[in-house]
Amino acid sequence: MDSDLDTRNGGAARAAPPYQFRTRAIHVGQGPDPATGAVVPPIHVASTYVQRAAGEWGAFDYSRSGNPSRANLERAVADLESGCGGLAFASGMAAIHCAMMLVKSGDHVVAGTDIYGGTYRLLHRVLDRSGVDVTLAPSTDLAAFERAMRPTTRLVWIESPGNPLMTVTDVGACAEIAHRHGARLAVDNTFATPVLTRPLERGADIVMHSATKYLGGHSDALAGMLAVRDPELWKELYFFQNAIGGVMGSLETYLVARGLKTLELRVREQCRSAARVAECLAADRRVRRVLYPGLATHAGHALAAQQMDRAFGAMLSFEVHGDLEKTKRVAGATRLFQLAVSLGAVESLIEHPASMSHASYHPDDRRAHGISDGLIRISIGLEDPGDLCADLDQALDA
Ligand SMILES: Cc1ncc(COP(=O)(O)O)c(C=O)c1O
Repeated sequence: MDSDLDTRNGGAARAAPPYQFRTRAIHVGQGPDPATGAVVPPIHVASTYVQRAAGEWGAFDYSRSGNPSRANLERAVADLESGCGGLAFASGMAAIHCAMMLVKSGDHVVAGTDIYGGTYRLLHRVLDRSGVDVTLAPSTDLAAFERAMRPTTRLVWIESPGNPLMTVTDVGACAEIAHRHGARLAVDNTFATPVLTRPLERGADIVMHSATKYLGGHSDALAGMLAVRDPELWKELYFFQNAIGGVMGSLETYLVARGLKTLELRVREQCRSAARVAECLAADRRVRRVLYPGLATHAGHALAAQQMDRAFGAMLSFEVHGDLEKTKRVAGATRLFQLAVSLGAVESLIEHPASMSHASYHPDDRRAHGISDGLIRISIGLEDPGDLCADLDQALDA
């Protein structure tokens, strides 16, 4: 093995070319256990670590502050996101909360309008209690987005593709706007994954994941991640993580690290299936509109083709003709797609954003930002795409 890719347990974060994404996803931070030679590193469950002498700290002292399994995963995700360091949390929301700790009373946050309902809730019903002002603005309209900036804006938060409308945002342009106004740009990269987009390479300061989704990929771990490219920012966020304590558990660390090894294969195959399902839906007269960046009719198609690496994601939304009852009947009538929130796993899921993932939006904001009651969101898994199209076909008759 080339010494540029140090795969020993606890090995270097650095993995220089020629190793490609897929290779690094398997090896960085995932080297054999030096104590036993076990090919898969052990799951470290200890909560505390023996020290040589009082005040002489070893590499690990207490698992809230650091744990070998978590450190390896943080190294792996930072590497895949082209960052200098990562931080692993108990959930995506814990990761977002940690990033939001960067703002304080009197500061202002600008966020895109197409964002996860939980992020909206954190911004509007938690952060506002600390005296932080929040403005939602359409990140797809850069002029309008820039108009939302104030002298006190310290953080800009976007998703691309956005949840649930699949809007595509120019990450590089948003980074420029944020920096010009003295703010940092954070990108929730849950939908795109680092397989398709690496925001830090495009100027973002923070990248965030609900690792519950594609990184884990099997609907069996609740987890969140941050990665950054500035070591000073990493230290600041690490301070908050340790002070607040919402760290990822050891079992979840193992499950997400295992998920990473097949991330690229899963995502690319899921994207292929999603493209086929999008075409099936777009050709169906029972469907009013399909939101998928891979369709030439999608407003963000050209930007997605340039910003996402050879695929358009495996999430899509659509609306059916008819009223709310009809929408709910369709969402409840699938047999393979399971009616559940979450996404990004091997099994396909279907949900109704207005009453599920985005129920915490104020109804006026939902309406204003285009999240209609008729919208259905689907996450394409790894089932046969023909089976998935057939399942939607029979559900549309509901
Ligand atoms: C885009 C996005 N960001 C963040 C989150 C929150 O992550 P978690 O549920 O792991 O806390 C979700 C959850 O659905 C999400 O879809």
